Order: sequence, then C-alpha cells, then structure tokens
Amino acid sequence: MKKIVKAFVFLGIIYLPTIGIAQDKDPKMKPFIDGLMQKMTLEEKIGQLNLPSVGFDVTGPIVSKDVEESIKKGLVGGVFNTFTPIAVRKLQEMAVKQTRLKIPLLFGYDVIHGHRTIFPIPLGLAASWDLNLIERTARAAADEASADGLNWTFSPMVDIARDPRWGRVSEGAGEDPWLGSQIARAMIKGYQGDDLMKNNTIMACIKHFALYGAAEAGRDYNTVDMSRVKMFNEYLPPYKAAVQAGAGSVMTSFNEIDGIPASGNKWLLTDLLRKQWGFNGMIVTDYTAINEMMQHGMGDELKVGELALNAGVDMDMVGEIFLKHGVDLVKSGRVSQAQVDAACRRMLEAKYKLGLFNDPYRYISDERNKSQLMSADKLQLSKEAAIKSMVLLKNSNQTLPLNSNQKIAFIGPLVKNQRDLIGNWSGAGDWKQATSVWNSLEQKYGIDHFLYAKGCNLVDDSLLRNKLNPHGAEIVPDEKSPQQLIDEALITAQQADVVVAVLGESFGMSGEAASRSVIGLLDNQVDLLKALKKTGKPIVLVLMNGRPLTLQWEERNMDAILETWFAGTKAGSAITDVLFGAANPSGKITMTFPRSIGQIPIYYNSKNTGRPFDINQKYTSKYLDAANDPLYPFGYGLSYTSFAYGDIALNTSSINPFQKITASVKISNTGKLDGEEIVQLYIRDMVGSITRPVKELKSFQKVFIKAGESKNIVFTISNDDLKFYDSNLKYASELGDFKVFIGSNSRDVKEAFFKLTK
Ligand code: BGC
Repeated sequence: MKKIVKAFVFLGIIYLPTIGIAQDKDPKMKPFIDGLMQKMTLEEKIGQLNLPSVGFDVTGPIVSKDVEESIKKGLVGGVFNTFTPIAVRKLQEMAVKQTRLKIPLLFGYDVIHGHRTIFPIPLGLAASWDLNLIERTARAAADEASADGLNWTFSPMVDIARDPRWGRVSEGAGEDPWLGSQIARAMIKGYQGDDLMKNNTIMACIKHFALYGAAEAGRDYNTVDMSRVKMFNEYLPPYKAAVQAGAGSVMTSFNEIDGIPASGNKWLLTDLLRKQWGFNGMIVTDYTAINEMMQHGMGDELKVGELALNAGVDMDMVGEIFLKHGVDLVKSGRVSQAQVDAACRRMLEAKYKLGLFNDPYRYISDERNKSQLMSADKLQLSKEAAIKSMVLLKNSNQTLPLNSNQKIAFIGPLVKNQRDLIGNWSGAGDWKQATSVWNSLEQKYGIDHFLYAKGCNLVDDSLLRNKLNPHGAEIVPDEKSPQQLIDEALITAQQADVVVAVLGESFGMSGEAASRSVIGLLDNQVDLLKALKKTGKPIVLVLMNGRPLTLQWEERNMDAILETWFAGTKAGSAITDVLFGAANPSGKITMTFPRSIGQIPIYYNSKNTGRPFDINQKYTSKYLDAANDPLYPFGYGLSYTSFAYGDIALNTSSINPFQKITASVKISNTGKLDGEEIVQLYIRDMVGSITRPVKELKSFQKVFIKAGESKNIVFTISNDDLKFYDSNLKYASELGDFKVFIGSNSRDVKEAFFKLTK
C-alpha cells in the first residue's frame, strides 16, 4: 500500500512525517493503551523503560541483577540477549502470567548480518551495491530471528564512517550518505516488511544516533565534534532516511554532540528526531549509556537519569538508572509525570505494533524454529551475498580466474580457518558450520589436487593476541616457529604454478572496541608475503578483514588481490567460486582504502579547499611524503571482464527546478566474459553559498552486460539531487553551474556540465 507523505515547511525547516508502520493508523491502539496506562502505577510505568540483558553476549559490565524477580514485579519492559523458543517462552510466561498487568516483554538482540545463517559483514554487503540483495538478507535474518523468539533487532547501524581505524566501520555501509541512506531503507524494509504484526517480521533499530562514526582519531567511544552544516549534509541523512522508512526504534550513541552526550541531548532526541523528523517510535539508549554520562562529566546518577528522561529517552539499556531513580525524579518534580507517561506509552505502542498484546507468544514457535533456521534457501542466499560482496582490487596479467589444472598452493592461516569467517556481531551464528576455503576446495575438486601450508600465525604479536582472546578468539600460536612456518610455505610454493595467500584480520580485530592505529596486514603476514614473492611465482592475495587496509606494498607486489571481507557462513564456497571463475566479481568498495594511515581521514566527497593540490605549486594542500589520492578510491572494484565508458550525453544543457535532465552513457563490455558493472553518477555544485564537495554520489545502476555487448545507461537528475543544507540549515538547491560525472568509481569518470536556471 502506498502512502502519501505530505511535508510542511516552517521557518525554512522541512518537517516530514514518517512513512510509519501500518499499526500507527490503528484506531484501536490509543484507547487500548490509554486504558492500560490508567491501571499502571508510576513504578510499573518506569518498569516498562527498563531493558536488562539476560544472556552471555555482553559488551560491558552486567549491571542488571535479579532480572527474573524484576520481571515478576512488572519492572522490566524487555530483555535482550535471550533467544530460542524455550528461553524466550520462560521469560515471557513470567511477564504474562505472573505480573499484575500481564504486559508482554520485548525480546531484542544484535541481529546484524544474519542471525543463525550469517551473511557478509555489513561493509561487505554494502560493497554489493545491491539493494534488493541487502533487503533479502535482512528479511532472511528477520525470518530466523523471529523463529528464535526475537521481535527486535539492534540494526541497521547507519553511522557514516570515514576513519578506517575505527573498528566499527565493519558494521556500517561505509562513507557515503546517499548510498548509506539507500541501504538503511532496504534494511528497514527487510526487517520490518510491510506489517510488523506478522510473526516473521521484527522491529528495526536505527543506530547509533548520532554521529558515532565520527569518533576522533578513530578511537572507539571517543569525542565527536562537528558543525551543524556538516552533520546535516554528511552524517545525518542515513538516520533520517531510516526514520522515514518507518523504523520502529532508534538507539542513542555513546558519544557527545555539541558537548552533550546523545542520551542526554534534548536537541538531538526531541527537537530534531521527534519534532523535525516526525519520529514516533521508541528511543532506547546504547548499553549503559545513561550511566556513562557520569564519566562524561554530566553529574551523578540522579542528574544523568533526569537528563536522559527529559531529553526524550524511552528505554534504559542495562543501566537501571530509570529503575533506581525514576520514581524519585518524578516525585521531586525534576521529571514530569507527562514525560514518563510519554515514554511508557511509546514502549507499549511498540509492543502493540508487534502484536504482542494479541499474542505474546507469536514469535515463539518450535515448528518455525525447525523450518527456518539455516534453511537451504538462506544458505544459498548467504553464498550469493558473499559472492556479490567481494571486490577484486587488482588482477594483473589476468592471474584470476585460476585454472583448476594448474598446480596451486594455498598458503596462510586463514585457508583452513572457520572461526573468523563469520566476522564479529554474529553471536547466534555457529562458526563451526562455516565453510572454509579448504573445505570448499575439497568438496569441489578434492584436496589431493592442491598444496597447502599455514605459512604464519594469524596473529604473532602476543600482546594483541591477549587482547583478542578474552573476546572469544581462540588464537593459539603454532608449535612451529615463525621461521619454520615460512620455510615450509616456501617449499610448498616452489612446487606450485601459482600461490594463493589467504591472509587478513582475525574477526576480533574489527567491530566494537577494536580500533587499530596501524591498519595494514600484520607484520608477520607481510614477512610471509615477502618471502613468497622471492619465489617468483604469481601470487593471488585473498583478504579477509573488517575494514579498509593500507595495502601499498601488496598492490605493488601481488599479482591479484581479492577483498572478501568476513563473508559469512558460505564464505569458503563463495571464495572458491570467484577464484576459479564460476562467478565474476562485481563488488565495489564503499569506503576509501588509504595508501597510509597518515592520510586519514580520506574520503571521496571532500572539499576542494582554496589551495587544491597542484604538483607545480609549493603552497598547495598536500603532504611532502605521501600522495593525496587514495590507493583505491570509493566505488572502486574490478571485474574479470573490462568495461569501456563512452562520453556523457545530456538531453539539455540547462533546466529549471521543475524540470529533469537525463544523462546517458554507452557502456561496452570489452572483455571476454559476461559481467556486472556498477555505473555511478556523481554531481558537483560548482558555486554555492557554502562550499560544496568535489563530488557527491547521487545515483547508480548495476547492470549486467554480456561479453562484446554494449548498453546505453540513462540517469535522470532532478532538482532534489541538487539540494543541500545551507548555513541556515535550509534545504534547497541553488541556481548555477553543475558538473555531472559518470564512471566506474569516484575517480575514473567522464564529465559534462549543465545549469540550473530560474
Ligand atoms: C553496542 C550496540 C549494541 C549494544 C547491545 C553496545 O555496546 O554499541 O551497537 O547494540 O551494545 O549489544
């Protein structure tokens, strides 16, 4: 059903109602909740705002105590980290049978890139630029999660990230606000479907609101400071898009915005999110984020509780500040009864929209649990997603695809590895079910065919290993010395026609609390590659990792490089399909790969500055010891075939704000294989009332073109594509000159000009 969305403008700010959830319109919801709230005591209302964790996957200290007792007293609104029909039923029965008002619980979990069947990490999925695929993975995740008793996921993470040192770049869609917005919408649609009440849809949670990806120096949880113009143009769009797509909940971020932590920031949560954007779902904090406001220096427990409630927070994740102090805060007048009522109402509305009042057990079904979890169609989707997420970064002399008649040596600690393939935030996934590269080779060709050597430890550095192991990595150094491992690898490589080195990060090296100050391959892995290089054999580097890496040496010295991220349950099978040419890679990176850490932050949609780099001029913006351009630009990725771009043809050279312009370009597959190309359209606003980026992605098309054939690709540009927030935060286009670029990545483009006139 299509909804008509009417916007109205007040003081130059656009107020947009959200698309919302079908149940928003249910006339029975309000009277039902009114009736229920009349019966509730203040304590019970505050109980609804309490979200303890019951389970094992925690990302901070466990604060909640005696949760079961609290549930029975009606002092819990939902729990997270509990799943499986049996575990969920037990707690839901407590809420429904043993409390005075029988209000059911929400069951949340971090279902981030799949639940039981694991898909590639979000940064990998984004590299597919395939919105339908991304939506299908979210749909499959919702199918599984809902069959496992869950009705709420803490996803999607839509934080724009420009600093690959930040480990959580792996959880998002990369650096671009426009693409990030499309992906956010696709995920919301996948999780929530068109009806949240169905027993196979779950409530999404937009996180982390806001700007979490801009942590200074890429250090997790660090301070964020940013101008409003930058926020509105570059960081806020994906959150807003997800709100407009009807996401049922929003999670606050750990960081501060304008000096006030998100969980206590009234401007952010009430003025912007609720009033300007029209968000009518519920707001949950991140893990103990209210308590952490004390460390931020905002005051004692009472003060931070007061700040959070008055800012507009509805639910306190784990911290129990509301539970402890909510009643006193209301009784002392520091927080109004109306504020608590509003928060409680939103919690109850979320439960109503999920259909929990009709049937608190609707997400608990042993039968669906058996039929949905890791079903054949989901495993197939996992493989498809893994293939489409892979990015071919280099392929000289057509080293890839490999020929199975060649003698091939697979070398590296990740060849036989299963543990790392499912990446971080895959708590309900079972890595033992993941297909390793070696498993897959065995299944497809028989291993007698291939040579193997471990070559090095995944992590040699004992300090790093000690930091990774407590979080579930079981990295054990090999009994053989590093030199012995390398010697063995060299003997193996000597017998081969080609070497495939499978290297990268351990899964714990990206994700939360996994910032790195150096983002290359670890030294011991590079030592192995350097030794292998001396054999003179062609080397294919297969990478598994959760962030852009610095790969200058590898780019110069490897013959081919395939970025596979942490590709999920079917990783190995997808990788071997791509290596041997059963699938042609088509992914493109959605985050810039820098040459060196010194270039960070580096992103494609930067400003020109008053002194743009000019090799012939001394006083221009540059480094003395490094290039300005990245190693691999945003949008970059190769194919086993090649594509040639014709010039851009515009149907007119000027339009007014009510007209549209079409830009077409002929793309030819000039290689010998069929393949898919992601054709990207960027725009530059040449003159503005504020400075404008040198390029902004505004559209793309993913097209399949047969070898030797051509296609004419047509884009339509409208006034909406030219709008931005000016220094008064007014969202509008400005008349003048524009450049349009079309190309295979943000660097290699054709260009044309047009004007926007009155
Ligand atoms: C993370 C969130 C996550 C939450 C619950 C926090 O530490 O920042 O992304 O949803 O834990 O597990």
